[in-house]
Amino acid sequence: MKLNIALLAGDGIGPEVINQAVKVSEAVAAKFNHQIDWIPALTGAAAIDAVGEPYPDETHSVCEAADAVLFGAIGHPRFDNDPSAKVRPEQGLLKMRQKLGLFANVRPTFTFPSLIDKSPLKRERIEGTDLIILRELTGGVYFGERGRKDNGNTAFDTMTYTRAEIQRLAKKGFEMALGRSKRLCCVDKANVLESSRLWRETVQAMEKDFPEVEVSYEFVDAVAMRLVQWPSDYDVIITENLFGDILTDEASVISGSMGLMPSASVGEKSKLYEPIHGSYPQAAGKDIANPLATVLSAAMLFEDFDLKDEAEAIRNVVNASLAQGIVTEDLAEGGKAYKTSEVGDWLASNL
Ligand code: IPM
Ligand code: MN
Repeated sequence: MKLNIALLAGDGIGPEVINQAVKVSEAVAAKFNHQIDWIPALTGAAAIDAVGEPYPDETHSVCEAADAVLFGAIGHPRFDNDPSAKVRPEQGLLKMRQKLGLFANVRPTFTFPSLIDKSPLKRERIEGTDLIILRELTGGVYFGERGRKDNGNTAFDTMTYTRAEIQRLAKKGFEMALGRSKRLCCVDKANVLESSRLWRETVQAMEKDFPEVEVSYEFVDAVAMRLVQWPSDYDVIITENLFGDILTDEASVISGSMGLMPSASVGEKSKLYEPIHGSYPQAAGKDIANPLATVLSAAMLFEDFDLKDEAEAIRNVVNASLAQGIVTEDLAEGGKAYKTSEVGDWLASNL
């Protein structure tokens, strides 16, 4: 197969972790006879510095034309402490999600056999965890009406959802559940929010179309608690944008490290793959960041093009590196800490 992949390295550790994912993907391509053309494009603070905005039109054209996008991270500390900054790197990410129509964010949570004891949670609670949080990504409070009134002394952000937006996300959730253990949990705050009541009503109405799927409805506050208490109670979770943002960071604790969890964002046409961690500016340029979440995001990419053996090969070599202690400092625990690039080299040559 021939794939055109837009490469958006972004800020902070983005370029370093992306480079490892490229190395590993190239090794996969060589082994399985594929050809990948990488098309680099600017995003984030790097794009603001170069052209004054975080998701330039030119980058959008590259992404639209590509078969998929591999994305590193965006965010820079010089914007975080400046609430008055007019252009922010994160706006690039949101604009990209919206313009590419990436309405479904797939964030799996699983454990690695050799890392189970690195999780702050007890082994017997997390062993066998294999869940997916399907987060709505182009609606809700992230994209609602917002502003100030009362001379700037009152601020508002509005959470709005249409039935159609909920249906297209929920449909993906039902389909995903069908291919797994057939359990779907709709997470909302329907005891308080009107938009959540529309979520619940919409998903309930879809149940008859998927009779094999067992659907449950839970409030987000209760799920925040139960997710770390009994993660194996969950299979596929569907939820709105902000709840999903919060729950997916929480869920990453189960695996033991944020540096490990991959994600995919998909829409009608485009597909984007990125680690769930941020730009980790303190580590930028030091060759110490953990590249595995980005490498595993590349595995999700292969999987979505129906290249299952290729995806499996990546997952296997990642597991082998963990089992043999070929790990970056976040996982080294007093043992040898390998550089980001050394982990990437090891993965590529042991694939
Ligand atoms: C994420 C991030 C983003 C979000 C930020 C950087 C805008 O936290 O991808 O989860 O809130 O969606
Ligand atoms: Mn987040």
